[in-house]
Amino acid sequence: MLKYIINGGRVLRGDISAGGSKNAVLPILSAVILNRGVTRIHNCPDISDVRITLNILRSLGCRVDLTGSTAEIDASDIIFSKIRAKDACKCRSSITFLGALLSRTGKAETAYPGGCSIGKRPIDIHENALRDMGINVIGSASCIQAERTDRTSGGSVFLRFPSVGATENTLLAAAGSSGTTHIYGAASEPEIVCLAEYLMTIGSEIQGAGTGHITVRGRESYENDNVDYTVCPDRIETATYLMAAAAAGSGVRIHGCSPAHILPVIDVLCEMGCEIETDGDDNTITLVRGAMHGRLESPGIVIADAYPSYPTDAQPLILPLLAAAKGVSFVADRIFPERFSCANELRKMGARFSVSKYGLTVKGRRSLKSADVISRDLRAGAAMIIAGLSACGRTTVTGGFIGRGYGSLCEKLRGIGAEIREVPYQNLS
Ligand code: EPZ
Repeated sequence: MLKYIINGGRVLRGDISAGGSKNAVLPILSAVILNRGVTRIHNCPDISDVRITLNILRSLGCRVDLTGSTAEIDASDIIFSKIRAKDACKCRSSITFLGALLSRTGKAETAYPGGCSIGKRPIDIHENALRDMGINVIGSASCIQAERTDRTSGGSVFLRFPSVGATENTLLAAAGSSGTTHIYGAASEPEIVCLAEYLMTIGSEIQGAGTGHITVRGRESYENDNVDYTVCPDRIETATYLMAAAAAGSGVRIHGCSPAHILPVIDVLCEMGCEIETDGDDNTITLVRGAMHGRLESPGIVIADAYPSYPTDAQPLILPLLAAAKGVSFVADRIFPERFSCANELRKMGARFSVSKYGLTVKGRRSLKSADVISRDLRAGAAMIIAGLSACGRTTVTGGFIGRGYGSLCEKLRGIGAEIREVPYQNLS
């Protein structure tokens, strides 16, 4: 557990870089077990969810090394097809080992995944998708077991909702089948495209990644001695720095990012009165003017939904800005309708929220006040950091989630002038 101590109200200025995408690298680290050889993953973020996943790979028999931002995995000898409960429950993405192990060994067993408590997170879409492929899936109280009946099946899979994880699991299971698999109703997030790119690098034939209909022609085995793959930028980390800059910055340039992946976020901030420049060739986004140049205006309504709509993971991140904007805003999240855990913490800083079953109504006030608050989940914790940077005075954010998705966050924020540090914290109450 960590406590972040912020002396807020300072103007943020200068250059900051986004790292590799957490939500892209995690399924790719599952996918590396399809390849009987060495894979080097570059631009790999050093975050706790990655370290958990690398430990899962070690438990399956892989040789694993993480040096700087390169993870090297030798998956020549996979000796197990079961994910240990103590590992599976630590992150949501452990569920994608189901599809990967089915492709590598023909069977798989994993305990139910963990993940941030941001709403109900069942896995029925994952299970039904695998059954659509002719795979036997048995769910018990403690684990899920799956076994292929026919390695050349392929088939048509229909996802009732464009679940990111279920799309990834289906892609991984289809990659190990020499038949052709059609995935209808697929998620189209950039992280899906990244995973498909890796699978094509090792020899899968995939069309339509990034659309609602993906076609996969896999192989029963993959043997590439040396594979190198570079992970795409983290669009939510990028959105986090952009929100911090909008709340407390003037002239902040974010490097190593893909502006095209967060256009709805940029659009809402411009509607609020920010001045933002993007350069897709140079992979930069510059916040020229934000709240430091005059109070921002409410954008009216923000609806989080599946890609390419406004991302649910950036929904908590904008709440501190709406809380200090002129006017009343309404926020709804169609992916995780109850994802407002940071609202109560922001109330401690003076925010005026009212929650209904439809969403969150925010009455802006001139500014937030510093306070001691709690990080309730990964993105809620990041939202509290943004709030602390914008509120004058000392704010502390206590919790254990932020390190799951942000590598060297304090160091990067200090690089643009933030006064922030992290100290170990033990909750003895
Ligand atoms: C991924 O989670 C991301 N995590 C989440 O990011 C992100 O919020 C989410 O996609 C949506 O974009 C990773 O990639 C590791 P879903 P995932 O399956 O795959 C329901 C972060 O902060 N659903 O697309 O679990 C589900 O309850 C994290 O980085 C079912 O009903 O999300 C939710 O309402 C948080 N049955 C909706 O679908 C299922 O079998 C979307 O979930 C699966 C999902």
